[in-house]
Amino acid sequence: MSRAAPSLGAMGKLRFGVVGTGMMGCEHLRNLLPMDDVAVVAVSDPNHEPLDWARLTMGEKWDGVRAFSDHRDLLASGLVDAIVIASPNHTHKAILDDVLATDVPVLVEKPMCTTVDDCRSIVTASKNRKAVTWVGLEYRYMPPIAKFLDTVRSGEIGALRMLAIREHRFPFLIKVDNWNRFSRNTGGTLVEKCCHFFDLMNLTVGARPARVYASGAQDVNHIDEVYDGERSDILDNAYVIVDYDNGVRAMLDLSMFAEGGRNEQEIVAVGDKGKLEVAVPGDGNLYLGRRSDRSVSPLAVTVGDVGHVGLHHGASYVELRRFCDAIRGTGPVEVDTTAGLWSVVVGAAAHKSIDEGRPVDIAEFGVTQPT
Ligand SMILES: NC(=O)c1ccc[n+]([C@@H]2O[C@H](COP(=O)([O-])OP(=O)(O)OC[C@H]3O[C@@H](n4cnc5c(N)ncnc54)[C@H](O)[C@@H]3O)[C@@H](O)[C@H]2O)c1
Repeated sequence: MSRAAPSLGAMGKLRFGVVGTGMMGCEHLRNLLPMDDVAVVAVSDPNHEPLDWARLTMGEKWDGVRAFSDHRDLLASGLVDAIVIASPNHTHKAILDDVLATDVPVLVEKPMCTTVDDCRSIVTASKNRKAVTWVGLEYRYMPPIAKFLDTVRSGEIGALRMLAIREHRFPFLIKVDNWNRFSRNTGGTLVEKCCHFFDLMNLTVGARPARVYASGAQDVNHIDEVYDGERSDILDNAYVIVDYDNGVRAMLDLSMFAEGGRNEQEIVAVGDKGKLEVAVPGDGNLYLGRRSDRSVSPLAVTVGDVGHVGLHHGASYVELRRFCDAIRGTGPVEVDTTAGLWSVVVGAAAHKSIDEGRPVDIAEFGVTQPT
């Protein structure tokens, strides 16, 4: 579908609005500020303090920025050519419904929505508009992971058969109004956090997930935390196995009480000819093993031109650049709502598998393939 060209502000700059100016909203601001062809002109947040964080983040570029307490007023202002949604997960659907009714391009943070049904509705709505709808699954742009994806696709390890992703990290941070302490707000840990990894799995394997088996629990973190009389219910560790419809199998090993490790993420792909290992942050290399001579060679990771390294190893900057390219019609929509949907489907299936103690067929969610 051809996309509508935005009407640009003075000097041809894309005028951005950021909805939700907490941790990730301000991170988007920090990434947008160095871009010469972008101007942040509006922000919105129902809480006063995060608006202040936005002001402090923008420094002298805050001059003239309009601050709203409701995204609908920001939309109605007609000030913006593009919107970034960085509000809590459970607010994405309602905000997207409002934005997708306009022709304003939008990047929505992951997870696209907290439920599969809501994601499906967003896929449909996004396909009925011309403007860009982009989902913030930026791990694919981290330099070591981008090289990992390229190397697997190049055929160096032969036909991919197995993929293992380990995330061993620190517990969830404290968020505004503690929204992330409850699964009903986040979609559950395997949706909230792990949609990143299921997106990487879907991308690396290049097929649709067919069946999910998972085991997980809340064993260590936030167990004694009570908010308004309600105990936090977020899972902090899990093993998830995913069978793909092309026969490839993948697994996720998640621990959120493992901050003592050397790497936050370690990914291993095994094909019929070799094996590829990557770690983030890692040591600047991928490691390629070949079965033929049992050799292991380092492959150096190069970091491209990144205007802001920030919290995600430069990935958010690349993501926003590509989003701008797509808006201007000079690049494709690389992370669309279909990718957003499939990353959530696997997480939702993993939660269902844990809750019901059984393997879960993706078909149970009624998502047709391809969407
Ligand atoms: N891509 C990534 O790697 C990454 C990393 C962190 C967070 N995130 C995502 O970013 C989003 C925000 O997370 P965060 O860590 O910044 O949380 P946060 O709590 O720090 O910030 C959320 C902000 O949204 C505001 N808010 C609440 N309801 C709103 C509404 N209806 N409209 C506008 N703003 C509203 C809150 O006041 C708060 O300022 C979440 O979807 C989260 O999953 C993505």
